[in-house]
Amino acid sequence: MEFLDLPQLLSAAGTVRLPGSKSISNRVLLLAALAEGETEVCDLLASDDTGRMIDALRVLGVGVTHLGGESWSIKGCGGKFPVKQAELFLGNAGTAFRPLTAALALAGGDYVLKGVPRMHERPIGDLVDGLRQLGADVAYLGNDGFPPLHLKPARIQPDGAVSVRGDVSSQFLTGLLMALPITGQTITVNVVGELISRPYIEITLAIMARFGVVVEREAWQRFTVVAGSRYVSPGTIHVEGDASSASYFLALGAIGGGPVRVDGVGRDSIQGDVKFADALAKMGAEIEMGPNWMSARAPKNGLLAVDLDCNAIPDAAMTLATAALFAKGTTTLRNIASWRVKETDRIAAMATELRKLGAVVEEGGDFIRISPSTVKPSAIDTYDDHRMAMCFSLAAFATPLRINDPKCVAKTFPDYFERFAAVTQAAPVIAIDGPSASGKGTVAARVASALGFGYLDSGALYRLTALAAQQAGVDWADEAGVAAVAAALDVEFLENDIQLDGQWVGDAIRHENISAGASRVAALPAVRATLLFRQRAFNKAPGLVGDGRDMASVVFPHARLKVFLTASPEVRAQRRYKQLIEKGLSANLGDLLLELQQRDARDSRRSVAPLRQEADAKLLDTTDLTIEAAVNQVLVWSKEVM
Ligand code: DC
Repeated sequence: MEFLDLPQLLSAAGTVRLPGSKSISNRVLLLAALAEGETEVCDLLASDDTGRMIDALRVLGVGVTHLGGESWSIKGCGGKFPVKQAELFLGNAGTAFRPLTAALALAGGDYVLKGVPRMHERPIGDLVDGLRQLGADVAYLGNDGFPPLHLKPARIQPDGAVSVRGDVSSQFLTGLLMALPITGQTITVNVVGELISRPYIEITLAIMARFGVVVEREAWQRFTVVAGSRYVSPGTIHVEGDASSASYFLALGAIGGGPVRVDGVGRDSIQGDVKFADALAKMGAEIEMGPNWMSARAPKNGLLAVDLDCNAIPDAAMTLATAALFAKGTTTLRNIASWRVKETDRIAAMATELRKLGAVVEEGGDFIRISPSTVKPSAIDTYDDHRMAMCFSLAAFATPLRINDPKCVAKTFPDYFERFAAVTQAAPVIAIDGPSASGKGTVAARVASALGFGYLDSGALYRLTALAAQQAGVDWADEAGVAAVAAALDVEFLENDIQLDGQWVGDAIRHENISAGASRVAALPAVRATLLFRQRAFNKAPGLVGDGRDMASVVFPHARLKVFLTASPEVRAQRRYKQLIEKGLSANLGDLLLELQQRDARDSRRSVAPLRQEADAKLLDTTDLTIEAAVNQVLVWSKEVM
């Protein structure tokens, strides 16, 4: 599985231009396809979901041309798709599946609509019931109430009325409303039950109006499209920035100092999720807004917990769940039952992953309650849900963490993590690599203490692994066995010593046979992979100095400063000899030199993460340098880059 390791963040500030809104993009694409005339769509979101819609429209014979960048041209078909028989694969794109189901059920063709397995678990029965009331011929190909679907030409009832449930997903009502002009009849839709996610219906009505169809609305219960309504291209249409995507950056500003400003949505937005800014303001964040921008800044005294009805901001509310990790007190998010039928069961997923981080979480059918606690480094699963990945990126303000399958953000925001990196400041790393006995451990520890940074002796992790394997009777050549030992290592690095399984380690890992064992186990790729996140978890505020062989090349490739610290083999052997003698251990200079040269060879010739100087690393040869001189040189270099 792919993963992305995030260092702990120190601060956030800057400006982000948002990608186009997913909800608006897919609605505009469909209406442009159904309209008379050609539409130029600007600022369209490039993502998996819009890709599904574009592919589907092309299969249906609609002329779709990429004009370059985020601009597309759609040749409308006036409500009649040229291709009358087709099978469409719509992935996990709910914003493509629901409206296309409605439009194609009424368009008069023979169509099969499918998706990924999760799409086949997401209910669509209420929409199908509504369409059937209009005379549509819809059959379930799998389970009743769920995709995949087989649509055949409808026999539309003249001037009918339809009832549709409003309390599961507003996308059913959106789908129906957008498809109604195809019928040419006057049709009234009655909403049964409380209409959830009302702001999404407002988006639907606003975009339909841009394409010339005005829906008559009585309260939020009755919607009528009158006979003769037809979609006409507005010529050019601009897609607003995605307000749900804005939520992550506003939250970054609210947690990480700020100000973080998002361009593309603001006070004049038609998207309900801009109300997220109000929720964040309730948590204490300082919000500013213009017609098409918003910004957030952290409150002086920290964020406060809230108890909120989130019906109006179902997607952006997820962002509040991870922001709650930084609030004083217990946060409760209510009226979020729709989370259960999204890309994944978002209430369950959110609860599971927040608990991994150490939060105390209570969940119910339609609420989640979060009490922050000490946060610990964890690997977060994302459930093929873009919003899980983006929400949990915020937790990096509390701890280094791993995001599994980060590319799932492509559903709505393919370059999310690049933009995230551009407005956040990570805890810096100074990477010091070099051969054994070069003095890098001593230099690294002193630099760390001079800067007030943490210190990672990565060699100790390989030594501990070798020791623990030996204690467990696992052969150093048994890759899977040693990797399992490495995964289960129960170590704690304390001020002057290390504890392994609750026992002080002392010099036990410094003996020559453990040095040889460490070099052996360090050559095993599975062991290195297992120890990777454990090392990155040291990348905390205010900063880290790490020493080893692959700090600069593999573990911390983005290190602020990279140093390759070395000395001649003879000098290194002499230093080791002195160390051992001082500790009262017996040693032979000739043997030490030989062993050191063998270890150098093994460490630099191995296939994974061999010891070598990175192109962007500074060389520090300590053959003729005192420790003080070496430490000072690293401190001088670090001043230049911090
Ligand atoms: O730095 P050291 O001598 O304590 O390292 C012990 C062994 O672990 C050494 O043979 C190389 C290996 N090692 C490694 O492969 N990668 C690191 N980052 C650190 C150490």
